[in-house]
Amino acid sequence: MGIQIAPSILTADFARLADEAAKVSNADWLHVDVMDNHFVPNLTLGVPVVESLVKAAPMPIDCHLMIEDPDRWAPGYVEAGASSVTFHIEACQAPIRTAREIRAKGARASMALKPATPIEPYEDILSELDMVLIMTVEPGFGGQKFLDICLPKIRRTRDLVAKHGLDIWIQIDGGVSAETIERCAEAGADVFVAGSAVYSADDPNLMVEKLRTLAADAS
Ligand code: DX5
Ligand code: ZN
Repeated sequence: MGIQIAPSILTADFARLADEAAKVSNADWLHVDVMDNHFVPNLTLGVPVVESLVKAAPMPIDCHLMIEDPDRWAPGYVEAGASSVTFHIEACQAPIRTAREIRAKGARASMALKPATPIEPYEDILSELDMVLIMTVEPGFGGQKFLDICLPKIRRTRDLVAKHGLDIWIQIDGGVSAETIERCAEAGADVFVAGSAVYSADDPNLMVEKLRTLAADAS
């Protein structure tokens, strides 16, 4: 599939989400951060807003669920029209069942790891997934500093995916910018979420292309 860029609307203007999505029409995905004020200390949006974004955005929706009990709620985001749904393994009781439900309803299933969560315990369930999201900041807020200590985990995840001969994308989220994206691509990531780097740029679409080129050249 190659390099993909997924701008996060977390740092966009929430009163003008359709316009903000249109500003990044070159992007492969629109990354939508769902936060419940329990799993993370921040509150954003839920199913009704995702439903509207699916209709308004020119690209598919990539839902990142930073919520408790994703086993219960994740299928509803597929029904809302999201093309990819990511649950946090730290909050998940039945990741195999949840991933299978997401896939059965027609979306890509993805598992997210917070910075201190290792990939190794989940080697045996990788075949149930379409993507692994490796957080490079503590989840909850945009604009945080990229954590270099997560780079070895990206490498180890890429090695495990290769070892099992799987076709799994590795997504990076948090502090991704023109300064940090090459390190992640070199380590084996191929899907890049960028919030503040894209939405604080004078031309968000141009930044999407810049990030894509930097990642492609480093991978
Ligand atoms: C943080 C969210 C990210 C956030 C990234 O918990 O999951 O998607 O929007 O923002 P930046 O790119 O500014 O770190
Ligand atoms: Zn996110």
